Amino acid sequence: YLLLLLLAFLVCATIHVLIIFILGTKKSKSSKDPPRPYPFPIIGNILELGSQPHKSLAKLSQTYGPIMSLNLGSIKTIVISSPKLAKEILHKHDQILSNRTVPDTIRALDHHIFSMVWMPPTNQWRILRRVSANKVFSPQQLDSTQVFRQRKMRELLDFVKEKNEKAESLDIGEATFVAVLNSLSNTFFSMDLDDHHNNSKKSQEFKEIFLGIMKEAGRPNVVDFFPMLRKLDPQGARARMNNYFGKLIDFFDGLVEERLERETKLSNDVLDSLVEVMMEDNSQVTRPHLLHLFLDLFVAGTDTTSSTIEWAMSELLRNPQKLEQVRKELQQVIGKDEQQQQIEESYITKLPYLRAVVKETLRLHPPIPLLVPHKSEDNVEICGFMVPKDAQILVNVWAMGRDSNVWRNPNEFLPERFLENDVDFKGQDFELIPFGAGRRICPGLPLASRTIHIVLASLLCNYDWKLANGKKKEDVDMSETYGITLHKTHPLHVIPIQA
Ligand code: HEM
Repeated sequence: YLLLLLLAFLVCATIHVLIIFILGTKKSKSSKDPPRPYPFPIIGNILELGSQPHKSLAKLSQTYGPIMSLNLGSIKTIVISSPKLAKEILHKHDQILSNRTVPDTIRALDHHIFSMVWMPPTNQWRILRRVSANKVFSPQQLDSTQVFRQRKMRELLDFVKEKNEKAESLDIGEATFVAVLNSLSNTFFSMDLDDHHNNSKKSQEFKEIFLGIMKEAGRPNVVDFFPMLRKLDPQGARARMNNYFGKLIDFFDGLVEERLERETKLSNDVLDSLVEVMMEDNSQVTRPHLLHLFLDLFVAGTDTTSSTIEWAMSELLRNPQKLEQVRKELQQVIGKDEQQQQIEESYITKLPYLRAVVKETLRLHPPIPLLVPHKSEDNVEICGFMVPKDAQILVNVWAMGRDSNVWRNPNEFLPERFLENDVDFKGQDFELIPFGAGRRICPGLPLASRTIHIVLASLLCNYDWKLANGKKKEDVDMSETYGITLHKTHPLHVIPIQA
């Protein structure tokens, strides 16, 4: 009888301990979940995003802190808004946190399978990163393709000269988009895809395709919140993207075919180098990889670069003293005797104030305000909080750029702040990471940086600028439209004045 009593006691005690243990682990697990706003059933926190997700998330992070968790439909999302946590995500734990959540439109033509931007960080991804680092973006390669970009700068200046002679205004975003697109297409293929006068049918077609891609990729898609609807494509977005991607891929394929048929390597551009890599024995860069790589490079490299230039010009026109200071520096370093000065990319190191202007622009107006979404491959603990496996991770660089705990007078355009320190946007200083950091950092950074500085230097060295339609500096509208890149809602129209 005593034995039975002892046994019953032991069973009860074990159950009791087990209950405490289970409740205990549950409690400690939930206490590690990042803070979060209350999610509605089914839709979760989708409505909290609004039309300007970077701003809504910045505001939410003031209540819930620099790491918070949201349910976007069925997608668990972690939002990061401080340099310290960004470093944990993109540097310390980047091996586990470097996968991608893939938007449904990117599945068009299986782009996500071949694309360097969207594939998981596999061996194939490493090969593509290495090939682009060596054959497209290395300093030697960029030096050797500089001549193509300089020709495009001259054409931009010729266009500005025409406007100056006719005392007409120009849409600076549109003009720089053409210059950037043609700089890329000449660096890659030695050919233009666009022209400043919109004369050719081809240029109009390319513009439509690029704008279409930006629109589809930037518009919210219900499938991205509820992937089980994927087969239905209820908004028809993937079908439209199939069409745009198809046109570009066919065009790139024609160029590759033409190079393969040539007997000698004539152009010395990126396409020549990459076709050579593709033709090596046992090459792991196949023809689809090459075609989808070009698609990535154009989509990732055009609008980001030209919108940065438009934001920089807008800030300078709102701040005439800063504008005057950049022009003074340019004239001291480059001189103003000759008209339509050609600016070498090597001059950039001699222009500290211009470099500060570019950093300040990227701080306030990062073109990809939430970076490209990352995804966790496993559970990871970040500063005491649990980031669960398969969570989408958004790093709000826009919020970090305007955080008064990080920057003095964060909403003011003060390039001078960068003359006092060595902070740069190359992925080492986590308070300024418009290109990301860690293994997924933007590989196009060296080309983007050269292009932004050179276009700005060319425009500002040769001309003074005033706002069109008699507008004053206070009238420059700085509203943002959220999409695949963060755009000015109202284009900047300016009149060039001969310096
Ligand atoms: C990735 C920013 C220009 C090609 C990225 C990412 C950002 C970014 C934030 C994602 C980083 C991450 O996932 O953590 C920018 C900005 C640019 C710019 C601000 C200009 C101002 C360019 C240019 C090119 C380019 C000119 C190429 C011509 C790419 C590619 C990736 C990428 C291929 C994907 C890399 C990967 O996932 O492994 N960029 N970018 N970008 N960017 Fe850029």
